[in-house]
Amino acid sequence: MNLIENTNEFVFQTYLRQGKAFVRGEGATLIDEEGKVYTDFLAGIAVCNLGHCHPKITQAIERQARTLVHVSNLFYTAPQANLAAALVEKSFADRVFFSNSGAEANEAAIKLARRYFQSKGNKNRYKIITMEKSFHGRTMATLSATGQEKIKEGFYPLLEGFIHVPFNDIDALKAALDETVAAVMLEPIQGEGGVIPADPDYLAKVRALCNETGTLLIFDEIQTGMGRCGSLFAHELYKTPPDIMTLAKALANGIPIGAMLATQDAATGFDFGSHGSTFGGTPLATAAALEVVNIISDEAFLSGVNEKGAYLREKLLELKEKHSRILDVRGKGLLVGMEIDTDIEGDKDRDAGFFVKKCFEKGFIINGIQGKILRFVPPLVIDKTQIDKLVAVLDSLF
Ligand SMILES: Cc1ncc(COP(=O)(O)O)c(C=O)c1O
Repeated sequence: MNLIENTNEFVFQTYLRQGKAFVRGEGATLIDEEGKVYTDFLAGIAVCNLGHCHPKITQAIERQARTLVHVSNLFYTAPQANLAAALVEKSFADRVFFSNSGAEANEAAIKLARRYFQSKGNKNRYKIITMEKSFHGRTMATLSATGQEKIKEGFYPLLEGFIHVPFNDIDALKAALDETVAAVMLEPIQGEGGVIPADPDYLAKVRALCNETGTLLIFDEIQTGMGRCGSLFAHELYKTPPDIMTLAKALANGIPIGAMLATQDAATGFDFGSHGSTFGGTPLATAAALEVVNIISDEAFLSGVNEKGAYLREKLLELKEKHSRILDVRGKGLLVGMEIDTDIEGDKDRDAGFFVKKCFEKGFIINGIQGKILRFVPPLVIDKTQIDKLVAVLDSLF
């Protein structure tokens, strides 16, 4: 039995996989069992931002694996302390809580927001407002927070106290905000929902509303953070800091880790014993993440991301001029979405899945979301020649 048959027989069938196994990765390329090389515009779903097997990350993992892998949070370790200090230095935040995934980081943020008010005796202030089309994870609380009905089916009853409002609609948010709301939680650029950026002034208006009402503001930067959008964190592009921010995905370039960052005030919601994780902040993951943070926060690296992102968008916009099937090109940095018309009479089979499959056959890994949006989230080390080659393939498919 080969590895694909083994996987299909013994692993839960919750993922629709492309029929290939990868055995090696290098930079923005992946190599399959037959030695075929693919150019990767997915990066493990916005995870391997520094590319596959980046030498400095590999070194950091090797060094740490030889020294100390895990001791529990009953003790102190240098990689955790150094990573927390680096994240605090480079962000709005004063404190960090470490977890192992995005959902867990968001779970921590939701718990912190509730406990912030409950520990002050305000038991009725527990609701969380999130956005329609948002995605915050698959645990029960983060599923409750998520604003997409289709992934909630079969899991009811969900947690109570979550309200969904349309994204980029400040009046809808204002109408929903009352003294029972503990926090507003949103992605500065919705990822899974279809690569939908916040309008230029929306985040500042949300911040102002939260300030007026004493509500906590949580930014889920699990997909948008770590240089993906051309700044270390996407909210910097909007000049609007949150009270709490969550990170995961690219934080350790593929080693599982999550983090919740908070201001000193918001962080008062947790005290000894109020939250915890066996693996959270373990030396191996934090050593890798520290290296990632140092590389990505470099100004020259980030301006390279902006330049390549602008180049990719420009090339895709040129395709849009040529092919009427392309409806929109949007995004920031190297988080880019291209919406296609899937409603053409007699040609409805050419949905996002069709283009993903065709690109894959030609050696390019892209992603389809919501049936009609092609998402491009390459490693940030992608180069313009690789972008040109993908664009040529797309051009031939439309
Ligand atoms: C914005 C956002 N939040 C949360 C998550 C959940 O992260 P994880 O899959 O690590 O639990 C994701 C994953 O796609 C995400 O994009």
